Amino acid sequence: MHVVEDIDTMQRLSSRLRQEGKTIGFVPTMGALHAGHMSLIEKARIDTDVVVVSIFVNPTQFGPGEDYREYPRDVEADTRKVEDAGVDILFTPSVQSMYPEGYNTYVEVKGLSEILCGKFRPGHFRGVATVVLKLFNIVMPHRAYFGYKDYQQGVIIKKMTQDLNLPIDIVMLPIVRDEDGLALSSRNLYLTPDERRSATGLYRSLKMAKALFLNGER
Ligand code: PAF
Repeated sequence: MHVVEDIDTMQRLSSRLRQEGKTIGFVPTMGALHAGHMSLIEKARIDTDVVVVSIFVNPTQFGPGEDYREYPRDVEADTRKVEDAGVDILFTPSVQSMYPEGYNTYVEVKGLSEILCGKFRPGHFRGVATVVLKLFNIVMPHRAYFGYKDYQQGVIIKKMTQDLNLPIDIVMLPIVRDEDGLALSSRNLYLTPDERRSATGLYRSLKMAKALFLNGER
């Protein structure tokens, strides 16, 4: 597996692979990898010739007072995981290289970014769309993989890809859950045992609502 930190090197590598006729599958992540990420990698390996995973904790998608500093980071463990999963290239750019001094360009998907989660996290989806577009320009994938866990994020990225005519297929894959039903997320590491038990309530309630609905409840 190649580990690439430098943006120009990654771009050159991707250009060469494309010239050789290889298809590139891309899984962008912020690290702290779990089985949800692994399911995206597995699908990318099936679909494409070369799989690129990025690990970049993107500062522009965290609001003031959010967990940018505390966000779990374990690049060594993540590197082992992606290598074991058969990833071809791990791209780990620095914050300084992605957002050098004077950086001033942002992408906004209007409307979709201001509702639901976006209503409570102003600027979050602007940061996501910006970094994903930058990563797309650097990695130049044919296909990019995202989880349904972040449904709104997936819809926004699809819309950006369509609006900006990017020749990239956005593939969305099912949520991977723990045995107790909790959707896997890097941030689950923050939960105390009590909070973890409560967190499964949402999934249990949704399942119960679905069962009632299918039984005719209105
Ligand atoms: O879903 C994530 O982990 C991030 O929002 C993403 C897509 C890697 C952009 O930083």
